[in-house]
Order: sequence, then structure tokens, then C-alpha cells
Amino acid sequence: MADTDRERWDARHAAVSGSAPMPPDGLRGRLELLPPGGRALELACGRGSVAVWLAHQGFTVDGVDVSGAGLAAGAALAERSGVGERVRWVRADLDDGVPASCTGPYDVVVCQRFRDTALYPAMAERLAPGGLLVVSVLSEVGDAGGPYRAPAGELAAAFPGLDVLAHTERDGEATLLARRT
Ligand SMILES: C[S@@+](CC[C@H](N)C(=O)[O-])C[C@H]1O[C@@H](n2cnc3c(N)ncnc32)[C@H](O)[C@@H]1O
Repeated sequence: MADTDRERWDARHAAVSGSAPMPPDGLRGRLELLPPGGRALELACGRGSVAVWLAHQGFTVDGVDVSGAGLAAGAALAERSGVGERVRWVRADLDDGVPASCTGPYDVVVCQRFRDTALYPAMAERLAPGGLLVVSVLSEVGDAGGPYRAPAGELAAAFPGLDVLAHTERDGEATLLARRT
């Protein structure tokens, strides 16, 4: 990633005040699918709302993002809400792949509102047996389209080794829940 892009993300995260623990979008209404605990990985975790929520569910979490400002906000949220010890914040450029320090295996892998098709195989590989994948990306379905949006069917085809539990594409967003058997 270019320095200017990273600085743009830092500025965006620094401009927001406060955040709260939140489940991943794809898991809302389906919380029963969440494994009972273990290790979790969130890629492009931004300000850490999902990573901290996972920590509150009992997971030990690795949160990865390129933005130091986003990670600092996540660390502050984790400390404030008493789960600072449960989250490891990893500053890394995902253009270079999933960091070597995040080998897993993970019981949950989450990536939402960030799309890099080159990362799809690594997301599946990092899952433990029984592990849950939760992915949301911008979609061309129900939207005018654009450079960052997934074409129809992308997520459904991206993880051939996993069991798809739920797949939706509408209103400009695609979501996939899948499990490694
Ligand atoms: C739209 S935000 C989504 C943040 C979070 N997943 C959420 O749902 O709130 C996209 C995130 O991706 C991060 N990001 C963008 N490009 C990246 C890259 N190449 N490597 C790591 N993180 C990146 C940004 O810093 C930002 O936090």
C-alpha cells in the first residue's frame, strides 16, 4: 500500500471518536453459529469493534490492520472494556498477505468491509477444523458497481473447501458464513 493511502486511513480513523464492541455484520441474527471460544483473527480490523466483541465472547484475538490510528483506537477500546489482555494488535499491510505471525489455526476468521481476493485462500487455510469464516464485502449486486465491489457470486465461489452456511448478496453488500468441517 502506498504511504498516502495508509495516511488517508490513519486520518479517517483519527477523525472518529469512540467506538463500541460489535458483532460482525454477517453474524447478526446468527450468533448461535459462533464457536464457543478459542482463537480468532480479524483482518482489516479498523478501530477494533469486532475484535473487541470477539474478545468479550471469550476468544483470544489477533486484529490486523495497516492503520496505526485504527489499531490504537482498538487497543483503547479493549483496555476500556477490560479485555486488553485478550487482543493482539498487528500492524501490517495485507497487500503482502496475512502476516507470518498470524498462522492460526483460528476458530473464527472475520474480514468485513475490506476486499482483497488474493487473501481468500489464506483465510480458509487459517481456519481450524470446525472454524467459522465470516466475510462481508461491497457487492455489485443491488448497486451501480465500482472498483472495489465484488461481482455476483464471488464469495460463493471463493472458498471451495468450506461448507457454506449462509450467503447473501443484496443492497450493495455480499456476506458469506462458512465452516471448515
Ligand atoms: C472500511 S474499513 C473497515 C474496518 C472494519 N473491518 C470495519 O468493519 O469497521 C477498511 C479497513 O481496512 C484497512 N486497510 C485498507 N487497506 C489495507 C491493507 N492493505 N492492509 C491492511 N489493512 C488495510 C483500513 O485501515 C481500514 O481500517
